[in-house]
Parts: sequence; structure tokens; C-alpha cells
Amino acid sequence: MNTAQRLNGIGEYYFSKKLREIDQLNREGRQIISLGIGSPDQPPHPDVVKVLNEESVKPNVHGYQSYKGSPVLRKAMAAWYRQWYGVELDPDQEILPLAGSKEGIMHICMTYINPGDLVLIPDPGYPTYRSAAALAGGNTTPYHLTEKNNWRPDFEELKNLLAKRRTGQDGVLMFVNYPQMPTGQLPDKKLFEDLVSFAKANQVLLVHDNPYSFILNEKPMSLLGIEGAKEQVIELNSLSKSHNMAGWRVGMLSGSKERIDEVLRFKSNMDSGMFLPVQLAAARALELSQSWYDDVNLVYTIRRKKVFELLQSLNCSFAETQAGLFVWASVPPASNDGYDLSDTLLKESNVFITPGGIFGSEGNKYVRVSLCTTEEKITEAIQRIKN
Ligand SMILES: Cc1ncc(COP(=O)(O)O)c(C=O)c1O
Repeated sequence: MNTAQRLNGIGEYYFSKKLREIDQLNREGRQIISLGIGSPDQPPHPDVVKVLNEESVKPNVHGYQSYKGSPVLRKAMAAWYRQWYGVELDPDQEILPLAGSKEGIMHICMTYINPGDLVLIPDPGYPTYRSAAALAGGNTTPYHLTEKNNWRPDFEELKNLLAKRRTGQDGVLMFVNYPQMPTGQLPDKKLFEDLVSFAKANQVLLVHDNPYSFILNEKPMSLLGIEGAKEQVIELNSLSKSHNMAGWRVGMLSGSKERIDEVLRFKSNMDSGMFLPVQLAAARALELSQSWYDDVNLVYTIRRKKVFELLQSLNCSFAETQAGLFVWASVPPASNDGYDLSDTLLKESNVFITPGGIFGSEGNKYVRVSLCTTEEKITEAIQRIKN
């Protein structure tokens, strides 16, 4: 049987292949230090694990769960949005827990995109936006983020791209993500206001992907915090990075009741509610105080200094104010591009860093280094490079 046509042009996810290659090199005895993916290596708060343990031994928690998630989790999500972002959400109508925000990207694409619909994708950006929109049949069109423009959209370019709509009446989906991955660029209120007014003026549904707002960032912001945004914005969020729970698969989608109901029409046919003890433990995680975020960020701050040192030893240049789990840096003139530098490092120093080109052509001259490895390992990587 042949694979479906919708898979044409969709390759296996870069890291799915690359991690296999690194595994193989390790089996050959190479002991690669991987500074690739953004999977937090530290555990969740002990109280969170305690809730999971206590709840999972109960006899009555093993059945199917509500498609809309446990009310306890939805309430905790609403309280978290109020406390940290100053955004009011109705826990019964404006929040949908997700088994990970990556999955949510697919749910949104399947809910809104018809074959041929224009979908605006940040370049550089998280590769799943493009692949999920393409799987849904969308006409995926990159909008360019450049260092010169502080990795922000050029609204003139966006207006020009809207001309690619089949008719002036067509709705358009646009993915945005600040703090931006891979560039680490932070948002400010003006950027968010401009995005919402652009969306309002042009029938654009903004999908704001917001998993990094607590990492190396003192002022978490939600696009839903902009007045009138609920009509134009669906926001994805996640506990993967902020609470060291990437493997638990807990995320959320927030927006108006109409948007939540629309996505639920697709999602409830795709999956079921998460394991209840996971949901209750996630609710506990969302109640953690400032000191949790401070402790997590202290570790990343120390590692980031080391990563700066590593990048300096490679003659890369970078901004020191980036948020999120990575440092984004431009390659020195001696390297053709990020692929060249990444391949050379892997071959000569047994260190893996991600070539920026996997995030789009605007990332070609860059590399991305993850902070999800211990300080000792980063120090060892620097030694290997120097040797
Ligand atoms: C920008 C961005 N969005 C979404 C995700 C997916 O996160 P989750 O674990 O919630 O699926 C990632 C993960 O790396 C990411 O970098």
C-alpha cells in the first residue's frame, strides 16, 4: 500500500532522524555531547511527582477522562493565566487542556485549514508549524524574520503575502511565537498590539505558540493580554519547558468559547482526556510559586554563560538577552553556514549543535545551542572544541 499523498514533501522530523544518527555514533563509542534538543533535563518539582504517585495508586483514576480535561486542571490553568499573565479565562469555556502543544498545532491545522488555504509561517520558526499545516493541505508561506528587524515580522511583507489568498474573503491562519524559537527574541506590548491590529484588519486567525515565556524571561506575556485579542487569537501553552515536564505531555489551548468548541470538534475525534493523575499533578505544578521559576532559571543562567563561552570559542556572534532554552548565534565567516559548522563540530569534536537552517532559510547562517545539558558537559564540549 502506498503512503497517502498528504505525506508527499513531508520528511521524518529532523530530530527524529538526527537523534538516531547520534545514537549510532554513540554505539560506535563516540560519546557525543548533544546540545541539540530543548528537552529539560531537570525533574519537575517533587510535589508534582508526589501527586502523581499518590493519585495513580487509587483504584478509580484509570478510566477514560473528559475530552475537555479535568475541571481541576482547567481551573488551575485559568488561575495560572490570571496570576502570571494577568489574563482572565473562563475555565469551563475558554481553556482546552492538550496532550502537549505540538499536538495542539496539528489539532488547530485540522480544524481550520482547507486545501489551498494560505498559512503564514515564521522563517525561522518551529518546523512543526509548516509540516502540520502542509499535512492539512495548507499553502504554507513563510514570512521572514531577520536579525536586522530584531526577528520581528515585517508588516509590509505580511500585507503583500495576503495577496496570495484565493479570494479576499478567505480567512488566513498565521503562526506566531514569542519568545521566539529559535532566535530567543522577546516580545513587547507594541509588537503584540501590532499583531492583533493586523489580524483584525485582515481576517487573520493568529495562533500564538507560547511555551518559552517563563524561561530566562522576567516578564511572561500572553498575546491574549492585548485588548480584543480573544476574537483573533488562539494561544498554545505548555508545561514541557516551564515545569520540566516535556515527557508528561501537558499543554493547553486558550481562546474564545467559539474557538475552543471548534477545535474540540476535531480533537474529541482524535484523542481522549489525559490520565487523571497526570492532570492533577499538572494542576499542582501550575500552583508553584515564583521560587520554582527562579530556581529553574538560575540553572539556565549559569549554563548560558558557559554556552556563550563555547560560542566565543567558535567565533560565533550572538545577543546576550535571549529568552528560552537555547542560544541562537550567527556562524563566523569561515563557515559556509550552520550545517557546515554543525557537521564539522560533530565530526571533529563529537559535539552536536543544531544547524539554524532546519528552522527555515533565514536560519541558514546560524546555529542553535541547547541549555538542556549540565554545566559539566558544556565545559567538556568547550574543552573538546579547544583541543
Ligand atoms: C516553539 C515550540 N512550540 C512547541 C513545542 C512543543 O512543545 P510541547 O512539548 O508542548 O509539545 C516546542 C518544543 O520544542 C517548541 O520549541
